[in-house]
Amino acid sequence: MKNLLVTGGAGFIGSNFIHYLLHEYRDIRIINLDALTYAGNLQNLNDITDPTRYTFIQGNICDRDFIDSIFHQYQIDTIVHFAAETHVDRSIDNAMSFIETNINGTYNLLESARDYLTDPVQNKNFRFHHISTDEVFGSLEPGEAPFTEKTPYSPNSPYAASKAASDHIVRAYFHTYGLPVTISNCSNNYGPYQFPEKLIPLVITNALSGKPIPVYGDGRQIRDWLYVEDHCEAISIILIKGIPGETYNIGGSNQPENIEIVENICSILDVLSPTKIPHRKLIDYVTDRPGHDRRYAMDISKIQKGLGWFPKWDLKKGMEKTVKWYLQNQDWVKSIVDREDYQNWLDNNYSLRKVGR
Ligand code: NAD
Ligand code: DAU
Repeated sequence: MKNLLVTGGAGFIGSNFIHYLLHEYRDIRIINLDALTYAGNLQNLNDITDPTRYTFIQGNICDRDFIDSIFHQYQIDTIVHFAAETHVDRSIDNAMSFIETNINGTYNLLESARDYLTDPVQNKNFRFHHISTDEVFGSLEPGEAPFTEKTPYSPNSPYAASKAASDHIVRAYFHTYGLPVTISNCSNNYGPYQFPEKLIPLVITNALSGKPIPVYGDGRQIRDWLYVEDHCEAISIILIKGIPGETYNIGGSNQPENIEIVENICSILDVLSPTKIPHRKLIDYVTDRPGHDRRYAMDISKIQKGLGWFPKWDLKKGMEKTVKWYLQNQDWVKSIVDREDYQNWLDNNYSLRKVGR
């Protein structure tokens, strides 16, 4: 890989990935294409100054002519496709942009790549890597075996359904046209630069400002949490060693209940930013998310055995590092939470949730 097109690089994982790649690999150039939706934030990349290694382009993955021109202008050989609408609650509120970006946008990129490669079979060095999620597999019962790459898709939210659709289209482009694609399905990420609508940064920011911490339903849902740097490393290994046409599960191999995550953050804040009343007193059980998946868990043996990747960060250390990052980057947090559109979202999502228990 020499000239990488990263879509959605101004978002949470995309910006961490760009930092990771520029740090780990010397001879690459990254073109970051991002529409800068509410979730995109150029502050995430402020510290990257070398124009020979990094270029930002504002644009929409649904704009076919524009994408075509980028492929040609920058002689792209690798595309890492993060751009998406990503928040489950927003997809429940209105799925339109999820269908547009996640499905049509992905199709658009694939078509552009197909046109750009006159003979994909000859272009062995080209790679289209599609970033997906564990949510496409649906929900597990307690004790049920983790998702493998062969688990049938069973998406439950409009977000998950849109990602599932995009995965299927990517897969079809390999089988039908020989486009060299890989797909990774990853579990919940956490770490620096995550938009504060998501659970972990929301808990940190609400707790720090003394606001109620909303826990959906009984708070006993289970996610498989992965520190974002581990995800970035896994993607880079797939780019180098992954086999075209294959999909890889990525996860942190842990199974805490949401309430444990929330209480853990409160305990860390009690030490790092003590208040008279313990932070856990702010926990507020609220009406559950409709169709809320109960449990996710990833079987990561394929990437572990096949490509030698395994997560390096344990949840305790990763969570402490994350809480510290948010404490040290209050200007970044403030620049988002003070925005009118963000406050409107909070009102929209939380004001009608009644106390659940
Ligand atoms: P994010 O919401 O933080 O960032 C998404 C980025 O995509 C933003 O910068 C946004 O401006 C950009 N974008 C949105 N629509 C666009 C469009 N039409 N054209 C160009 N850019 C557009 O998302 P994230 O949490 O960093 O997730 C990135 C990817 O990883 C997504 O594909 C998501 O489905 C997947 N994923 C996320 C997680 C997670 O825990 N966050 C886990 C597994 C997979
Ligand atoms: O599993 C991977 C997915 O993880 C990604 O594909 C998504 O893009 C990403 O948003 C994330 O989805 P979740 O729905 O799991 O993340 P979220 O942070 O929204 O919620 C995590 C859990 O916390 C979930 O069980 C819902 C719960 N929750 C969430 C919020 C925002 C609460 O209890 N209260 C809240 O206020």
